[in-house]
Amino acid sequence: MKVLELFSGLGGWRYALRDRGHVLAAYDVSEAANATYALNHGDDPRARELATLPSREVAELGADTWVLSPPCQPFCRMGNHQGLEDPRSRAFCHLMELFQQAPPDRLVLENVGGFLGSDAHALLSEQLRNQGMHQLEFQACSSHFGLPNQRPRVFIVASRRSLKALPMPELQPGPLADYLDQEEDERLYLRSETLARHIHGLDLVEPGDRRSTCFIGGYGRRFVASGPFLKTNLGVRRFSPSEVARLLGLPAGFRFPEALSFQSRYRLLGNGLSIPVAAWALDHL
Ligand SMILES: C[S@@+](CC[C@H](N)C(=O)[O-])C[C@H]1O[C@@H](n2cnc3c(N)ncnc32)[C@H](O)[C@@H]1O
Repeated sequence: MKVLELFSGLGGWRYALRDRGHVLAAYDVSEAANATYALNHGDDPRARELATLPSREVAELGADTWVLSPPCQPFCRMGNHQGLEDPRSRAFCHLMELFQQAPPDRLVLENVGGFLGSDAHALLSEQLRNQGMHQLEFQACSSHFGLPNQRPRVFIVASRRSLKALPMPELQPGPLADYLDQEEDERLYLRSETLARHIHGLDLVEPGDRRSTCFIGGYGRRFVASGPFLKTNLGVRRFSPSEVARLLGLPAGFRFPEALSFQSRYRLLGNGLSIPVAAWALDHL
């Protein structure tokens, strides 16, 4: 597959692709995302606003596959539900126009559950139908893929070739302890006043637990409904960015640029893909 990775973030789709395809170009506006992508994948993404991507540029690349994770805020539970009306959907609308002009042979989209049934979903399905492409839609969660973390996501897989839904894996997650850093960073611990203020709203887990809630981009800044906190015999702490990365199934060698703040690291991870789930979506092609 000759792939365009759109809204590339830290490059989750590229990890999920493995040797199935070659990324011809990745696109993202975020400096932090692009620096992280370049460090891990060795290629610089194009720092471009996708709402103005010229059709000529796409045609010149000659990709046959698009993988994309458009911003989910217009569709998420805690977002504004404005769908295509949300300015953050402009890039998606523009890509749909480019798709109409020169459709690739395959497309895989990932987003939050609220995408299903939205106007953006209707637009994408219409475009795929107009091009005579086959499509599958499913919801999948990393907790079914052996990871002790929930990340329920929607995938739309489309191809010119017929598609068959694969059985959902049912791998049992191991304990969170397997995903923890060897050495704890003391800065991750919550101060006693913070803990007292938020204790009733925190999602507390222990190293032996085999489940944890989804990390969102605001993890580390917000306490309630932002992800799990770990209870140890020293107190209660956040998961470190490298622990979150392991819980998303990112490979052991994955790293962040040294200078990137904790906050930026959590934001990139909170936007990220669960790699085994994305790989399974690609298995359908
Ligand atoms: C949901 S995240 C995608 C995460 C990615 N799949 C990964 O593995 O990390 C959306 C990404 O789209 C980027 N983005 C949002 N709007 C954009 C736009 N208009 N043009 C280009 N990139 C955009 C954000 O910077 C963010 O990194």
